[in-house]
Amino acid sequence: MMRQAGRYQPSYRAVREKVGFLELCHSPELIAQVTVAPIDEFGFDAAILFSDILIHLPAMGLDLSFEKGEKGKGDGGPRIANPVRTRADVEALRIPDPAADLPYVAQGIRAIQRALGGRVPLIGFAGGPFTVASYAVEGGSQGFARLKALLYDDPRAAHALFDKLTRAAVVQLQAQVEAGAEAVQVFESWLGELGREDLEAFSFPYLARIAEALRPLGVPAILFSTGTSTHLRAMSALGYDVLSIDWRIPMAEARALAPEVAFQGNLDSALLLGPKDVLLARTRALLEAGAAKPGYIFNLGHGITPPTPPENVRAVVEAVHAFRPRGG
Ligand code: CP3
Repeated sequence: MMRQAGRYQPSYRAVREKVGFLELCHSPELIAQVTVAPIDEFGFDAAILFSDILIHLPAMGLDLSFEKGEKGKGDGGPRIANPVRTRADVEALRIPDPAADLPYVAQGIRAIQRALGGRVPLIGFAGGPFTVASYAVEGGSQGFARLKALLYDDPRAAHALFDKLTRAAVVQLQAQVEAGAEAVQVFESWLGELGREDLEAFSFPYLARIAEALRPLGVPAILFSTGTSTHLRAMSALGYDVLSIDWRIPMAEARALAPEVAFQGNLDSALLLGPKDVLLARTRALLEAGAAKPGYIFNLGHGITPPTPPENVRAVVEAVHAFRPRGG
């Protein structure tokens, strides 16, 4: 239930009253505090590193800020003052060096592991090339028109951009695993914007390269995306151990399309805003449908929303822990 998630948590909002979002991402002590808080408060079975999929963009040469992301204000959307628009802009992008440019991430991971003391595994993450490119090219959460135009106007520049963002994702994930992350997730949240032909040209080869680079690290790799149910069969061949699916497709249909991968998902986050009996009935039905080989991770279909009552989160965690698959 993490993924810009802390905002439903009073303890997270209390930290954000005092520090800006990027300041929080840059402090190993605060990273550890807000990563471990939901484990202590709700008893989740895994922790996810507190950071952001755009955290490396300043090291690549992009001027990143979070609008309204200063002290005390929530829901700050990302903004890039010098977005990538031309081939020269792509050429100017540097590949980040995690040790030199993002030392607080590895330091944060080590601090998290000390605080967790082996209670639950820690998931590291990076943004997928298409999703990070959408922010880098549009300059914020402003749709996909400019990025899509780039694919068709200057495919060589688009490929050069995806290549650099792929290398940037790989070095970050390698550094996170080296520092102690025990699984990794690639957030390709907006992949559903592309049709199959463009996915095959501009996305799948890069996602497969990331999966291949991860394999020698020996940790499970999860590919998160939304709006991609129609592509599950193709996506199951990219080399990830787990595909995260959104709420638009029934679990059984997803299994039929890709029987050889594990799934993560896919409760509709909106159910957490409704009555508890409906929430718990749908949670149990999903657990019944999900629990099958080669594996299942209970999760939401996308991020939890800020108005979610914490007591509903607790009720879902309890229902998941109480569940026993039929037949044992
Ligand atoms: O949930 C967690 O706390 C884990 C850490 C995490 C964050 N962002 C912290 C965050 C993770 C895994 C992410 C991933 C991320 N960042 C994604 C992919 C996940 C998804 O939801 O699809 C994306 C697209 C981003 C980029 C980003 N960061 C956006 C678009 C925004 C603004 C979101 C909004 O709704 O306004 C952020 C900000 C952000 N990242 C917040 C958090 C906790 C909120 C900032 C705040 O505290 O005000």
